[in-house]
Amino acid sequence: MSDSSRNLDDLSSFLKSCEGADSKQRIKFYNSWAETYEQDHIAMGYRVPHQAVAFLLENFSGRPEEVQVLDVACGTGLVANLMVELGFKHFVGVDGSQGMLDQAAKTGLYKELKLALLGTEPLPAQTGFFDVVMIIGALRDGFVPFGVIRELCLAAKPGGYVCMSRNGRESESGNQYKVSLEKELLLMEEEGLWSHVITKEIDRYMIDVYDDSDHVQSERYIHGTMYLYRKALQ
Ligand SMILES: C[S@@+](CC[C@H](N)C(=O)[O-])C[C@H]1O[C@@H](n2cnc3c(N)ncnc32)[C@H](O)[C@@H]1O
Repeated sequence: MSDSSRNLDDLSSFLKSCEGADSKQRIKFYNSWAETYEQDHIAMGYRVPHQAVAFLLENFSGRPEEVQVLDVACGTGLVANLMVELGFKHFVGVDGSQGMLDQAAKTGLYKELKLALLGTEPLPAQTGFFDVVMIIGALRDGFVPFGVIRELCLAAKPGGYVCMSRNGRESESGNQYKVSLEKELLLMEEEGLWSHVITKEIDRYMIDVYDDSDHVQSERYIHGTMYLYRKALQ
């Protein structure tokens, strides 16, 4: 039976149990979390899928019903669930956790769902096909390595969009990930692979459940960044 009564303290202990995990251990952790992932993320103030879809729409002018979306690290399907309400219809999802993919399958929204541990296995997606590639909640240290963004760009069609969110606590490894990711984004722009559309800082990415200090809840948020890039036409 799923636990529907986890509060922030419970979640803090639960998340700390996978601190420092390698990618295989992290996927096991997500397999065990899949059933209560959505309700726990509501408790953690996780509104990133909403923020990301709004961010995309502010900067995108295609006809949603014609758009092919690749949802990378799709989890249980929160992003596709929101996009469907706005008229998007065609989704392919990829995730490293079979448990999360099983939940995503229950939405009935995805044409295909593929299992892949990114960074270790190649992104299982058709090259040059997708109008929009989303990767939300998974670009951070210990999750999807920043080098995978080249594969996201490859999967986009010429002129297609790649919409990314990055988050992480202020820590040496979190900051290092941000620096490396942003260096790679810039390098790809200099290589002519894509152009920068817009970057937006997000103040309240989600509640920092790791923070045990006496801060009131409103001060305990992790910050993040949204990035939107457009693949070169040739
Ligand atoms: C915080 S969840 C985000 C899920 C969804 N995009 C959302 O916003 O609700 C992170 C997801 O990334 C997946 N993930 C983490 N590391 C991964 C990796 N190296 N390869 C593939 N998936 C990974 C996890 O299985 C999990 O579903």
